Amino acid sequence: MYKRQLEYLGIAIGELATHSTFEETVYLLWNGRLPTRGELAEFEGKIRANYDLPPRIAELLAVMPKEAQPAHAIRTLISAMGLIDPKPNSTDLASIREKATRLLGVAPTLLAAFDRHRKGKALVAPNKTLSLAENFLYMLNGERPTPTMAKALDVCLVLHTDHGLNNSTFTARVIISTMSDIYSAITGAIGSLRGPLHGGANEGVMVMLGEIPSVGAAKGYVEEKLARKDKIMGFGHRVYKSYDPRATHLKVLAKQLAEDTGNISLYEKSSAIEEAMATAVAAKGIYPNVDFYSATTYHCIGLPLDLFTPMFVVGRIGGWSAHIIEQLSD
Ligand code: COA
Repeated sequence: MYKRQLEYLGIAIGELATHSTFEETVYLLWNGRLPTRGELAEFEGKIRANYDLPPRIAELLAVMPKEAQPAHAIRTLISAMGLIDPKPNSTDLASIREKATRLLGVAPTLLAAFDRHRKGKALVAPNKTLSLAENFLYMLNGERPTPTMAKALDVCLVLHTDHGLNNSTFTARVIISTMSDIYSAITGAIGSLRGPLHGGANEGVMVMLGEIPSVGAAKGYVEEKLARKDKIMGFGHRVYKSYDPRATHLKVLAKQLAEDTGNISLYEKSSAIEEAMATAVAAKGIYPNVDFYSATTYHCIGLPLDLFTPMFVVGRIGGWSAHIIEQLSD
């Protein structure tokens, strides 16, 4: 097996996951270079200024069905952000950057607010002194996460931010290429990402881990599924016919978090599935992808299962926006 390298603008994904932050990574994608300290502080300030839930969106949220799926809720709420923009169709670069920053800053709030709304809990106002990842967990749970959990989520967001011309990014590009608006482009991209063969696979992985009763049962489970020609969620990739570089990092993170949070059996089941897949189908170039170990990681961070895919949406808004900016620039 040969290894593929994933880079954002020439910087290895591992470097960014280890030394950067989600906000800094998005700056890199939107500007083609890393920021200075001052530029990063300014960019973080602009994102944080958009953490608040707009009052008209809060009214909409209040009447949304509590039984709605969060992936549908965030798609609708992102689309609704276009209703309160006095100039939703502007496509000049300054406007697009401003709108993208607004969506980036508000998306975690929309998701956390919907989760609390459906559970009948009071909404938690954002804390603008916190990073996007830490503030999301704070608004979701009503208490500040430990630094380890905040860092883990931040690393997940970095790893999920961009990935070339994948299906949802292609969708965003197709929509914006008609000189449509950023709200339509990102709403369409969410619809694409939600599918179980794309970003929805992380939820499928967790369901699978729940169906496997013990580590010892993993091999038989995989063999039975493959014999029925079923797909194993979290494996295979249109581009990678080798180990997904993002999975390399998520595997390490998942193991550490699983140990810390008493979820080691999830990690061990995942390893057993990986082993069984290596024997059965590695010859076809099918290895774990980004979604495989992100399932255990998100579970250990404490996210409810149906927030896994919307969490991917929050990170990918950075990448979709970068592509929209690029498309409109040239
Ligand atoms: N489990 C079992 N077999 C798989 C598989 C998986 N996850 N992914 C691919 N295969 C098999 C196919 O059945 C096919 O076998 P065949 O040649 O005997 O018919 C072969 O590998 C090629 O599959 P194909 O669907 O053509 O690969 P692709 O590159 O077009 O598909 C995905 C890529 C991502 C759509 C596919 O691997 C998949 O559905 N994975 C599961 C969902 C997932 O994790 N998605 C997240 C991607 S980041």
